[in-house]
Amino acid sequence: MAPSIIANPGYAEMGKLKISWARKHMPIMSQVVKTHWPAQPLDGYTIVTSVHLEAKTACLVQALTSLGAEVYATGCNPLSTQDDVAAALAETCGVTVYARHNHPEEYQIMLKQALSHYPHIIIDDGGDLVELLHGDECADYGRRLIGGCEETTTGVHRLKARVAQGTLNFPMLDVNDADCKHLFDNYYGTGQSVITAIMNNTNLTVAGKTFVIAGYGDCGSGIAKRAHGMGAKVIITEINSKKALRAYMDGYTVMPMDEAATIGDVFITSTGCKDVITRRHFDAMKDGAILANAGHFNVEISVKDLSDITASRSEARKNVIGYNLADGKTLYLLAEGRLVNLAAGDGHPVEIMDMSFSIQLLSVIHIATNLTKNRLIKRGDVKPGLYPVPPYIDDEVASIALGTNHIRIDHLSDAQRAYLENGF
Ligand code: NAI
Repeated sequence: MAPSIIANPGYAEMGKLKISWARKHMPIMSQVVKTHWPAQPLDGYTIVTSVHLEAKTACLVQALTSLGAEVYATGCNPLSTQDDVAAALAETCGVTVYARHNHPEEYQIMLKQALSHYPHIIIDDGGDLVELLHGDECADYGRRLIGGCEETTTGVHRLKARVAQGTLNFPMLDVNDADCKHLFDNYYGTGQSVITAIMNNTNLTVAGKTFVIAGYGDCGSGIAKRAHGMGAKVIITEINSKKALRAYMDGYTVMPMDEAATIGDVFITSTGCKDVITRRHFDAMKDGAILANAGHFNVEISVKDLSDITASRSEARKNVIGYNLADGKTLYLLAEGRLVNLAAGDGHPVEIMDMSFSIQLLSVIHIATNLTKNRLIKRGDVKPGLYPVPPYIDDEVASIALGTNHIRIDHLSDAQRAYLENGF
């Protein structure tokens, strides 16, 4: 294995504690590993992961190696890498880590370094690995690639764009849209962790404040539910008429951002789009408004526009920068406009990522054992494209999750099954 590139190997002890805490609360993934360990289905496979490098991701990487894989792990955002976790992970046999916290200038270099090991399988979060593998510089690194998995909505958007243009060169599984991923991770996970990150970083109340949430998809609706549950008044902005109507029926106020900008105390973007909050919105905001992004890329709140109208800026608290505007008011931007729950927090709760990463793990096993005919490690057995996660994987994760929570459910009788299937 190649040497890791990390901030400081001396941080490993704290990282090990974080990983060990996460693993204790990931019974689904432990069960998947236990079931598949005897067959070592990933033996002989090189895997590159580009996922927020924190403790739950470290558990996924270690699970991959325990099933036989050699793993090159990078982050997927310069701010979400935790150096202590990276140091602990780098001590794992079969793992090389290329990631250092808050080095945006070397982010792409680290991804390329990982890809230079010619992976058979990739796990991408946001689509940066896929984009590099389609560029001139890294295309050759994909010559052994069988396929990969995409973790998040934004990465899936980018894959769909490539499919539409006919330019996707290999098969990818859409992990984001597996039920046991987006119904829980995007909704409950983002909902809880975004509100937690805003509370922890500002030390301010949620109750009584007006929260403006842009985007009422899986993430935005989860954030709205949590904010409302803690006493916030919630305003939703949308561009999709059905989603807007759903937000209205769920009891929230719906209006365009131009109107909401004048009212909100806290603004959260969760759209996967860009330029959702721009200069004219900043101009209209109240003094002291707080701005946070939950979407994958730091393009939802226009930091450039904000900087353009700023006379001076100062650190108000850790992860909170005050932008003092020329008109005399101050707006507070959290985590530099990067996804707040990961760049300025620990990300989703462990139990949520237990489900998401169990889907990832089973999807990787699926690629290794089912996409590769006769275990020949070569590309081209399956046509390039974006494929749904096979339903058996969702079912397996859901049933293990129910079991670990000691929840039993009813089962169809033969007569009921026949009734549902035949209509009588
Ligand atoms: P989604 O597609 O379910 O929802 C996005 C919503 O935003 C849609 O209803 C869409 O109509 C709306 N929208 C799009 N452009 C808009 C605009 N300009 N103004 C107002 N609304 C707009 O997507 P999902 O799953 O909720 O993901 C949203 C973003 O969050 C993505 O970038 C995704 O990758 C990211 N994400 C972040 C996580 C985190 O931990 N922070 C976890 C999971 C996803």
